[in-house]
Amino acid sequence: MASPIKVCVTGAAGQIGYSLVYMIGSGAVFGADTPVSLHLLDIPPMMPVLNGVCMEIADCALPCVREVVATDDPSVAFKDIDAAFLVGAMPRKEGMERKDLLAANVKIFKVQGQALDQHAKKSVRVLVVGNPANTNALICSQYAPSIPKENFSAMTRLDQNRAQAQIAARLSVPVSDVKNCIIWGNHSGTQFPDVRHATVAGKSVYDAVNDEAWIRGDFITLVQKRGGAVIAARKLSSAMSAAKAACDHMASWWQGTPEGSYVSMGVFSDGSYGTASGVMFSFPVTIKDGKWSIVQGLPIDDFSKGKLEVTGKELCEERDDALAVCSAAQ
Ligand code: NAD
Ligand code: LMR
Repeated sequence: MASPIKVCVTGAAGQIGYSLVYMIGSGAVFGADTPVSLHLLDIPPMMPVLNGVCMEIADCALPCVREVVATDDPSVAFKDIDAAFLVGAMPRKEGMERKDLLAANVKIFKVQGQALDQHAKKSVRVLVVGNPANTNALICSQYAPSIPKENFSAMTRLDQNRAQAQIAARLSVPVSDVKNCIIWGNHSGTQFPDVRHATVAGKSVYDAVNDEAWIRGDFITLVQKRGGAVIAARKLSSAMSAAKAACDHMASWWQGTPEGSYVSMGVFSDGSYGTASGVMFSFPVTIKDGKWSIVQGLPIDDFSKGKLEVTGKELCEERDDALAVCSAAQ
């Protein structure tokens, strides 16, 4: 076995953390032959709960887990890490939009950006899960100037998985037959779930579904509002599916995307497809040797162009609000 890679999970005593640490420890993300050192961060009042999580990790007897460091100190949690899952943040409650969390959560990502800058490896790959994820990732990157911007990403993989599952259910096919569903823009109610370029068993999803009104209407709304529907049903925000999506995202980043397929990630926008630049915009990306590239050249019709504009505008507004919160907190 190779030497352990150091993986940090923040908010490790929370709901998502509870599923996530098991999945990482099981080898599902970095490979069954890759040992991991788990660095678990939470806030001081949660240390007894985190201690219980550590007991359970030990009791799982996971062969990949070589070491567990549980701490409330970011300088310890981020020391020399190779990968970070930034989950620790407040979740929304029924009736809230994710951007309502901005004022409370963005300050966490400013402080953690500064701590990553000081303590993590410069090659660290950072996935932001805590909401509003795209804008938190942007702020985190901004306050970690010594780490390349390409090393920060925001999670829209849960939305991608939701879109894929809805298409599979509609066509009564296994979910693995559905490929290349795209999430554009923000992990919010303005996101654009797009199946124009998706395939099912190698054929066009658009043709297989044969119902443009559904694809442009109920399908989009369902995916956009799925997080809220889970909160309404569970009285808690999604956790198992969020942890699975975080693992999928990091596994793609670590292991690459298969030939001919792409995944969606919130990444630093270069203005591709005429989108807003300088925000963390979710694009279809391919990944090779740990580096993502935005898929270029997909035809974008007027309907899609309108959707990209709306979600880009929201991201710019969130960015401006977040920067104002951060400078007021200085
Ligand atoms: P939770 O309340 O169960 O857990 C959050 C944990 O973070 C708590 O243990 C809390 O103590 C900890 N925490 C708070 N501030 C911290 C800090 N400064 N440093 C370290 N830890 C800190 O919440 P959850 O259900 O696990 O959700 C976590 C976040 O993930 C929320 O913001 C939620 O909205 C978001 N989320 C995002 C997606 C996505 O698709 N991007 C999906 C689901 C949930
Ligand atoms: C989700 O999409 O399930 C999460 O972002 C939680 C939420 O607030 O919807």
